[in-house]
Amino acid sequence: MNCTPTLADCLRGPSFARSVPEQIVPLRIGPLIVDPPVLQAPMAGFTNFAFRQIVREYGGAGLQATEMICAKGFAWRDRERQEVPDRLWGVREEPRPLAVQIWDNDPETLAHVGARLAHDFGVSVVDINFGCPVRQVSEKAQSGSYLLRYPDRMAAIIERVVRACAPTPVTAKIRLGCTRNQINACEVARVVEASGAAALTVHGRTAQDYFQGTADWDRIAEIRHHLRAIPLIGNGDLDSPAAVVAAFQRYPVDGVMIARASLGRPWLFRQVQAALRGEPIPADPSLAEQAECMLRHYDLLVQRFGAERGTVLMRKYACTYAQGRPGCRKFRARIATVSNASEFHEVVRECFPRDDHAVDFA
Ligand SMILES: Cc1cc2nc3c(=O)[nH]c(=O)nc-3n(C[C@H](O)[C@H](O)[C@H](O)COP(=O)(O)O)c2cc1C
Repeated sequence: MNCTPTLADCLRGPSFARSVPEQIVPLRIGPLIVDPPVLQAPMAGFTNFAFRQIVREYGGAGLQATEMICAKGFAWRDRERQEVPDRLWGVREEPRPLAVQIWDNDPETLAHVGARLAHDFGVSVVDINFGCPVRQVSEKAQSGSYLLRYPDRMAAIIERVVRACAPTPVTAKIRLGCTRNQINACEVARVVEASGAAALTVHGRTAQDYFQGTADWDRIAEIRHHLRAIPLIGNGDLDSPAAVVAAFQRYPVDGVMIARASLGRPWLFRQVQAALRGEPIPADPSLAEQAECMLRHYDLLVQRFGAERGTVLMRKYACTYAQGRPGCRKFRARIATVSNASEFHEVVRECFPRDDHAVDFA
């Protein structure tokens, strides 16, 4: 395998006062040790069991998370004695540590679902979503980022869920605030800790920002002074091992969380882990290896959902693997039409050829 120079080499210099390996220590979330302190973010529509399994096989993520799960829907299914939501695919059996994220605005509903996850499913962490800006969750269901306006309500939710889940740790994921004029993450952080949460993750944008602009890591850093003991996990725009190392060097965070950059690059966590250890960073897998990875991802989906639905679902994931690569548009157009395994295999074989020199599949 090719190796590029280590980040410790690349980043040596006056602007990087703290050295790489010494400063980065495992993160503690209640009784759980997260090592390395790099978390795979929850992403609705993406971080299902298949994605998590692929990330796990490459290694390097200290804690993985599910997609956010609608607590009301889960509770309703429990009452009706229906099967658990699709989004809990794999959760009972897969290796730990694993965090499951839930959303709603009702303390009792969240506590019921949190307790089920903690005690019946044995998950490692129950995370509560206070950051989702999507209208259906925020304005319509008055949940996710909507709740940032109501720290008292957040406190009631967290206290209740912490009690229901004990001894499983409960964490919170927030944005900086609802709008640029309503940034209140420091106040919210104090409330989150006082209510018994075991860690706080902050995406350095407001709900109004959605994904516009750049994540404001200075604002994330300010929160540090408002937490007494629980870890602060920074999130936003980390897209390379260098960016993660720089985040740890420049900002007083205990951990980091990576979301979009890992889509189609499930090996990123392994690269980040090497960088944090000051070791040579493994090169990206060859195109042929990436094709294998995609086919493995596809197999996992087909095993669960069958060939027809699995193929349709895989179209979206396949595009993430091609993202940013030459010929990506053509790949997307072709993959959008595949409807069975042989068509899928054919497009992958053509576009991710075994000959690594033929990188441009336009
Ligand atoms: C497609 C997609 C789905 C997401 N779903 C969730 C979710 O279910 N729960 C959550 O807390 N954040 C969710 N997020 C936000 C990410 O977890 C993360 O906070 C955000 O993308 C910023 O990190 P990044 O710059 O590394 O992508 C989602 C983001 C994307 C792009």
